[in-house]
Order: sequence, then C-alpha cells, then structure tokens
Amino acid sequence: MASLTIRQLDEKLKKQLRLRAARSGRSVEDEVRTILRGAAADAEAFAPPAASPKNERKAETGAPRVLLIIGGGIAAYKSLDLIRRLRERGISVRVVMTDAAQKFITPLSAGTLAGEHPYTDLFDARSEFDVGHIRLARDPNIVVVAPATANLMAKMANGLADDLASAVLLATDKTILLAPAMNPNMWSNKATQRNIAQLRADQIVLVGPNAGEMAESGEAGLGRMAKPLEIVAAVQALLAAGSGVLAGVRMLVTSGPTHEPIDPVRYIANRSSGKQGHAIAEAAAKAGANVTLVSGPVNVPDPRGVNIVKVESAREMLTAVEAALPADVAVFAAAVADWRTSTNNREKIKKTGKGTPELALIENPDILSTVAHRKAKRPKLVIGFAAETEHVVEHARQKLARKGCDWILANDVSPESGVMGGDMNTIHLVTGDGVEHWPPQSKNEVAAALIRRIAATLDVKK
Ligand code: CTP
Repeated sequence: MASLTIRQLDEKLKKQLRLRAARSGRSVEDEVRTILRGAAADAEAFAPPAASPKNERKAETGAPRVLLIIGGGIAAYKSLDLIRRLRERGISVRVVMTDAAQKFITPLSAGTLAGEHPYTDLFDARSEFDVGHIRLARDPNIVVVAPATANLMAKMANGLADDLASAVLLATDKTILLAPAMNPNMWSNKATQRNIAQLRADQIVLVGPNAGEMAESGEAGLGRMAKPLEIVAAVQALLAAGSGVLAGVRMLVTSGPTHEPIDPVRYIANRSSGKQGHAIAEAAAKAGANVTLVSGPVNVPDPRGVNIVKVESAREMLTAVEAALPADVAVFAAAVADWRTSTNNREKIKKTGKGTPELALIENPDILSTVAHRKAKRPKLVIGFAAETEHVVEHARQKLARKGCDWILANDVSPESGVMGGDMNTIHLVTGDGVEHWPPQSKNEVAAALIRRIAATLDVKK
C-alpha cells in the first residue's frame, strides 16, 4: 500500500479524484489525504451497515443535494423518515445535527439513513478536514431545517453563528426551507412571530407548522412540524423552481405603484410596495427565465438577475412594457394609478388665497388590457392581479373577461388584510377553467407557486 502512487490508479478513478479535488480547491494529493483521513475517522466513529451507504452516495452523484439541519425537538424523530423519503426520490442528503438534536436522536441513526456520518461540531477536525463549514453551506442545492426550533430561528433572524448549524445557515447562499416545530405558545409568542417576519423578509421559505396535538399531553394548537411528505413536496417544488424550469422563457413583470404628477413637487400615488411583483421577477430569474421588470418607484431592493426598467407614471410604464415585447409570459403586478391630472402643470401650484385648486382627472391607459388585446406580439400567457376590497373572486372573474387576460391572481387588499405593504398574501387564482384558492403564504411563496404553475402550463402548451 505504501508503494501505491496516484499514477497507478485506473483512469476512471483518477478522473473522479481530479474532479473532487477541483471542486474542493485542493491538490489531488491533498484530496487523497483528506479521503483517507475521513475513512479512518469513519472506521472509528461509524460502523457502516450491510447496505454500504458509501456506495449508495456514489450512485447519487449528480443527484439534487439537500443539507438537512436537524434541530433539537421531539419532532426530530420524524426527520429520520424525512431522510429516507428524500433518498427514495433520488435526492442525496447530508446531515448536520445540533447538540440538542442529539438528545432526541443519535447521529448513528441519522448517519445510517443518510449514508454518511452527520456533521455535529464547528470545531471538529474531521468536519473541517473533510468539507469545512463553508463547503457544507455551499455544496447543497437547498438547506432544510427540520425541526426548526424557536431558538434556531431566533439565531437565524439575528445572524448568530455560535455552532455548526447556525454557522452553516449564516454562510449559505442557497435557498433555506424551514419546517418549524414547537409548542403553540412558543409559536404564537411575539418574539417568535417577529423573528418569522424577519426570516420571511429575508426570503426564507417555511413549510408548516400544522395544527394538532402536541407531544405534551393535553396541549394542542399550531406548532406541529409538517409531515415528512409535505416537507419533501416543498423541497421538490423549490428544486424545480431553482432548476431552470423556465430556462429560455422571456418574461415581463410590472411591479410597484405609479406616481402621477400634479405639479413638479406633488403626485398621486398608492400604497403598493412592489414586494409581490419583485418577488415574482426574482423567482422567475431563479427558475432560468430571461426577465424584464418594469418597476414604478419602490423602496424594496432590486431583485437579482433581472433587467430593470425604472419608471414613474402609468404612461411611462406602458411605453417601457411595449418596448420589452415580445415576451412569452407577462405578469402585471403593478398597482397602476387609474387616473392622472388632466393638466400638465409645469410650475408648482401656489396658494392664491382664493380657495382650493380643483384637480381634474383623466383615465390612464390600462396596460394589462392593452397588452392582452394586442394582435401582434401578445405573450402566450398574460397574467393580471385584481386588488379588491370586496367580492374578491366575483370582481376578479369580471376583470378576467374585461381585460382579456388568461389568469387573474385576485387578492383582498382591504386594510384589515395587511396585504398592501405587508409580507403575506392570500391568492385566488381565476382562470378560464375555474378558481384555485391558495393558502395564506408569504409573497415569496406566492411567487414560487406562480412560477411552478406557469412552468406546468407552458409545458402543456409546448
Ligand atoms: N392594470 C394596468 N393598468 C392600469 C390599471 C390596472 O395594467 N391602468 C393592471 C394591474 O397591474 C393589475 C390589473 O390591471 O394586473 C388589475 O388592477 P386593479 O387595480 O385591480 O384593477 P383596475 O383595472 O384598476 O380596476 P378597479 O380599480 O376598478 O378595481
């Protein structure tokens, strides 16, 4: 063995080694040392079961990769089933366990199911030699936290990194899916709800929690971890959204309010934040679409990976939208001002002491309707929103017919709903075939659901 050199290995093995070394940024010799060190540690710490999990991991090369962070809660036992369910679907799973998680389930059980010993310690020589917490954070396609405890979510919301799990969560640039699990009082506590609002604003996706009986006898309410198959479905949806389901699709999105000038210093506006339209543009770009976002004045950050055209008024928005055609799909999420002033006041309107000025209004062009009724360059799928305060679905149906679009995402924007400016949205999708009632979810989750729906429909239309 001592006389074996890398040159003597067969070509396939050498190629695999070179690939692995390139991925980890090491020399081939260092990679071999790392593998041997890992193997020695495995032999000490973990007796492999008969099914030889190492071989299974080799078979999973190229498979989608999930990093599963198991937090410390009674629901941790369900995460063992989650590992099995994910791997059954060809998804490879690498596990990180917090100290508290190891009080509920053992690394041996998690490792046996994952086919690889779990990572547990930020300063464990084996983890650092083998992959290191930065690579643990970067390697997967998705990071899943199940169960996500109140403590782990509080750390995430505040950017703490005092153990391996929280350090990986801070270091990752991948989509994070949380499956919260806790006592209903902990869930409804204002501090937890504040943290969740922050995490949602940070584009972190949640699945669950569900309502039901708690492990503690006599306790019931919202706080049960989502079922393993619900988590698997959320993982698959996120993998689909991030795996180029809209590759090659040209997508146009409008977002935000418009400002209609009254004079050079005053304008007519509305409460739209642009959060929903921007989330759709970013989700579409993540799914591989070539996205043009035409945005009114907003205070939310520019989404990554999209071409942005910034406008002020409805007429400017229409010009920018027409310039962005042709497109395969157009989503009109902007809250376009219906009216503008009929006069073009070049100077500031002054108080004259002779009463208040009268503002005469005229109607703005309807951008959605204009595009939906085009003979040439009409996108295959034209999607509008309906911001309603009453008879939401009924009004949306009428809008679908009147504006000539293919789908309407109707939402209740009355002040009690908190939709305008808020992070949550409850959508009723009205199409020619009927109405789908979506559950209340974050605007990012609505965006992901819409992208999946668009991808499925375009596939049918191909
Ligand atoms: N819309 C548009 N141009 C306008 C007005 C609305 O493109 N001038 C689009 C919005 O982007 C949205 C849809 O039309 O996709 C419906 O907007 P909404 O404000 O709900 O409806 P309105 O047409 O303004 O009708 P109403 O105010 O009577 O509800």
